[in-house]
Amino acid sequence: METETKTQTAAKEVTDRDLSEQIKKVTKEAHVRAENTELMLSFQRGQVTLPQYKLLLCSLYEIYKTLEEEMDNNSDHPSVAPIYFPAELARLESIEKDLQYFFGQGWREKVVVPAATKRYCHRLRQIGKENPEYLVAHAYTRYLGDLSGGQILGRIAQKSMGLKSSEGLSFFSFPGVSSPNLFKQLYRGRMNSVELTEEERNGVLEEAVRAFELNIQVFDDLQKMLTITENKLQDSLTHLKPVNAKML
Ligand code: HEM
Repeated sequence: METETKTQTAAKEVTDRDLSEQIKKVTKEAHVRAENTELMLSFQRGQVTLPQYKLLLCSLYEIYKTLEEEMDNNSDHPSVAPIYFPAELARLESIEKDLQYFFGQGWREKVVVPAATKRYCHRLRQIGKENPEYLVAHAYTRYLGDLSGGQILGRIAQKSMGLKSSEGLSFFSFPGVSSPNLFKQLYRGRMNSVELTEEERNGVLEEAVRAFELNIQVFDDLQKMLTITENKLQDSLTHLKPVNAKML
């Protein structure tokens, strides 16, 4: 009995030192905050609208473009190489397909990038140059999120926006990943194989919380933009009322 307890304790100690466990633990509170942003709540309630989704897609385009360029630039870096899975995870092409579906041929000119999204991308560029090991934190935050809650959100989004097929929703689908759960296990193992000094590890953990924070700011910024647009629309409708009344 005593041996069993000791084994269990030893196993726990090993697990507690794993980057994948530590990162999950330190970002737990930020994950709850991300889930509770107005935009994510709209998703969960099945109320996401087309304008909301289109605006989110524009930001995701900029974010993944930057993240994936920086991952490519640093693919040989010892902290990046183990978690570099472009064939399985890369999202840029899927997002481009979705943007084309929603905005048509001229989609590139229609991409709107709010300030918070620019700040997120700026940070990605900076760490790509100065601290490539922090890319682990950013890749974890986005890709493991997409393979977790993202899978449920994709199905809800299809219903909420009344899309007949999965057209416009390539972002949520990972044809190169047959089992998200098994892939997440593999990915966690790879994260745990990254060799980091104590200082680098603490930096990666801090960066993961920052990555969640940057996402939250993007969601809040988008929601603010939508509210302003809705209010303006409401205002112009109110001003139109007397005209309409006269016309009647
Ligand atoms: C994991 C739900 C938003 C990042 C998960 C899991 C669920 C979930 C059910 C699996 C938990 C587990 O296996 O223990 C949701 C829902 C969301 C949401 C419903 C919003 C509506 C987000 C956002 C991000 C994110 C906005 C980051 C930008 C992650 C990450 C994981 C995860 C990185 C993997 C945790 C780990 O296993 O280490 N999410 N999530 N999630 N989510 Fe979310």
